[in-house]
Amino acid sequence: METFSNKVVVITGGNSGIGYATAKEFKALGATVVITGKREDALQKASNELGVQAKLTDQSNLQQIDELVAAVKDSLGKVDVLFINAGVAFFVPVEFTSEEQFDTMMNVNFKGSFFTLQKFLPILNDGASVVFLTSGNTALAMESSSVYSASKSAVGHLAKIAAKELAPRQIRVNTVNPGPTETEMQSKFGMDEGTLSGMKTQIINQVPLRKMGAPGDVAKMVAYLSDNTVASFITGGEFFIDGGMAL
Ligand SMILES: NC(=O)c1ccc[n+]([C@@H]2O[C@H](COP(=O)([O-])OP(=O)(O)OC[C@H]3O[C@@H](n4cnc5c(N)ncnc54)[C@H](OP(=O)(O)O)[C@@H]3O)[C@@H](O)[C@H]2O)c1
Repeated sequence: METFSNKVVVITGGNSGIGYATAKEFKALGATVVITGKREDALQKASNELGVQAKLTDQSNLQQIDELVAAVKDSLGKVDVLFINAGVAFFVPVEFTSEEQFDTMMNVNFKGSFFTLQKFLPILNDGASVVFLTSGNTALAMESSSVYSASKSAVGHLAKIAAKELAPRQIRVNTVNPGPTETEMQSKFGMDEGTLSGMKTQIINQVPLRKMGAPGDVAKMVAYLSDNTVASFITGGEFFIDGGMAL
């Protein structure tokens, strides 16, 4: 069913993983979709594969967010769904975290999410849906995740406050908090195959359902939360999709 026909959906970080799966889901539901990403070749490839529009945008760069908003406004007018998904993770103990790693996570995950929301506000339709992708880590105290978890927890709090501020315009704001999900993110940790597979086994052992999540499942949850025919009373919520890991 084309639930989102005539709707404009913007997804940050749509060239791989959860963002890619969500772009595919919304496209299948009839939406006009715009994805962003930082790597030009990956973005172009995803745009061609999915049949969606793409705009190269570094989420930590406020000028590029302005350019994204201007481009979307020029080509499509207003936005019905804003999925702020782009993020980066370095899992490092407090003792060894560099200033560069700290700044990158805070700038992409928190500052970038905040200003993406702020700059899109003038072109969000009343009744729009905003979904932030945070993490199951917000409910855990996992070693080596201090800055990543803090950056995502900050987004969680931002989402709740934005939900109240934007309610007069019937704009709903929610977060989706995935547990370990099978995406390209793991391959970006720079680990060899053996170390990566050991890390995955260790993580899966901490998940009550004993498996990793699928990006397509997260995509369906984002689509559900953005569908005003079923979710019009849902705002300020946090939705864990983590196999019970946060329990
Ligand atoms: N996979 C998991 O287990 C998991 C669990 C909980 C939460 N998350 C969160 O889920 C979100 C999506 O991650 P994923 O798992 O789908 O990983 P992914 O496949 O690595 O996707 C991350 C996306 O974010 C984009 N991105 C990264 N930095 C960016 C920047 N500065 N500007 C614009 N785009 C940027 C990437 O584009 P480029 O490749 O072009 O940089 C990519 O499209 C992230 O916020 C992540 O923190 C993931």
